[in-house]
Amino acid sequence: MEVIDFNKQNSILNQFIAEIRDVNIQKDQMRFRRNLERIGEIMALEVSKKLNYVTKEVTTPLGSTTINVPEEDIVLGTVFRAGLPLHQGFHNYFDHCENAFVSAYRKYLDEVNFDVHIEYMASPKLDGKTLILVDPMLATGNSLYLAYRALLLKGTPAKVHLCSVIAAQAGVDYVCKMFPQDNVTLWCAAVDPELNSHAYIIPGLGDAGDLCFGEK
Ligand code: URA
Repeated sequence: MEVIDFNKQNSILNQFIAEIRDVNIQKDQMRFRRNLERIGEIMALEVSKKLNYVTKEVTTPLGSTTINVPEEDIVLGTVFRAGLPLHQGFHNYFDHCENAFVSAYRKYLDEVNFDVHIEYMASPKLDGKTLILVDPMLATGNSLYLAYRALLLKGTPAKVHLCSVIAAQAGVDYVCKMFPQDNVTLWCAAVDPELNSHAYIIPGLGDAGDLCFGEK
């Protein structure tokens, strides 16, 4: 698996990452969701550079020309509920894609330990397609992996792009172990050093789902 960390290069993406982390700016829920959407748009552009292209002829009112357009059949998947604004950002650019949704939630067994439960999955067939699975927070990596496994009930994609905004190093290590195949790429906008005892990313940003949609 290839890991791409956008944090290694300065761009306007940094501004949006700074804002989603900032405890004061986070109070504006609409800005938080819109920033995740903007990050999704930038990541979509970067992922698009890795796709295969085919030359298409386009007729204008005054003549004709050719241009390379993506030829891969894309399925854009996300995990409820925090993934929705990031999915929207990707969907703004990959507007021809099909879409998949998975629910994943942490069921706490005690103060610290939890299982991840997947209860809902809706996806088109995946055989031979390019799956872009987006989830803003890659903490342990367990929910992303289980969401991917659930999607495999719909077939085996030819290529997989896993896109997270803030990842913990432990999550990156777990995903690298669980996806040894070279047709999988992990994209992150920042990699943070630690998880706390509740498996939240430190410094991270807090609970992305609550910050998007309000506390549970
Ligand atoms: N999910 C979140 O929303 N935040 C974390 O830090 C980890 C998982």
